[in-house]
Amino acid sequence: MERRTILVTRRLPGVPWDDLAKRFRAGDPPPAGTMPREEFLARVRGASGILCTLADRVDAELMEAAGPSLVVVSNFAVGVNNVDVAGATRRGIRVCNTPDVLTDATSDLGFALLLSAARKVSDADRFVRAGSWTGWDPWGFLGVPVAGKTLGIVGMGKIGAGVARRSRGFSMKILYHSRRRISPSEEAGLAASYRDLDALLAESDFVVLCVPLTPETRGLISTERLGRMKRTAVLVNIARGEVVDEEAVATALAEGRLFGAGLDVYEKEPRVHPKLLSAPSAVLLPHLGSATGETREAMGRRATENLLAALDGREPPSPVN
Ligand code: DGY
Repeated sequence: MERRTILVTRRLPGVPWDDLAKRFRAGDPPPAGTMPREEFLARVRGASGILCTLADRVDAELMEAAGPSLVVVSNFAVGVNNVDVAGATRRGIRVCNTPDVLTDATSDLGFALLLSAARKVSDADRFVRAGSWTGWDPWGFLGVPVAGKTLGIVGMGKIGAGVARRSRGFSMKILYHSRRRISPSEEAGLAASYRDLDALLAESDFVVLCVPLTPETRGLISTERLGRMKRTAVLVNIARGEVVDEEAVATALAEGRLFGAGLDVYEKEPRVHPKLLSAPSAVLLPHLGSATGETREAMGRRATENLLAALDGREPPSPVN
């Protein structure tokens, strides 16, 4: 029987490409970086399965280029906003992701950003490295306190709940807003109270965004919504860049209408809005949410399991559709 074709779009931790290449027609080894679009379109022809990353756009054009053999798109990420899931579903293609295995790593990073922005860790680190420190300064790098303050979590999924659990060590009051309200027992378990979004923004000292990118969440944090936040507040985004109007955040920081921001994701990655680069109290990371060795290995294993299960006609461990 002729072996089926798969396409792995880049070298990934936890993805045993050599083994896959023995079992399937896999073509040349995947590149170390993101596969250029033209190459992706050319190499996907006749593929039954794709294992790709959040930097690969799987849209109608790509699925058309693959042809009718395509049965599964296995995304090395929990977010699937790079995949046209509705279009895939119409074509009978399974889409899979890597939830659970990255919950702790991403929640940790959300909290790291919160603390760093609150205490100006990045600004102060740059100051020391630049050789500008001349001695202890009672007025230098004054931050905002975290302990006992109000944390507003937007998107109370697994990662939102992980951030809530971490905040307990800081005795924070937890508010949340979500598409669907969680059950009373889950609310009690997390000691979290539901608010509508505008009330959450007005009451919170720290707002952490954990929502998936959907038509409803695109542009959620606009100039108007930033205007509802406290001037002393910190905004953290570990969701997707398009949830936030970056220009509006940079302007609010520059004008002192927002104390700080911790951003891991951007509207047009890897481009970062130039105004953010010089904004005060902005901690800017290069999309590191799931970036621990263990987590990335686990993501690769899950993405591989999803691919193989769907190709074998079994139910994949993490289907999205
Ligand atoms: C995801 O999995 O969606 C994360 O953004 C990757 O770090």
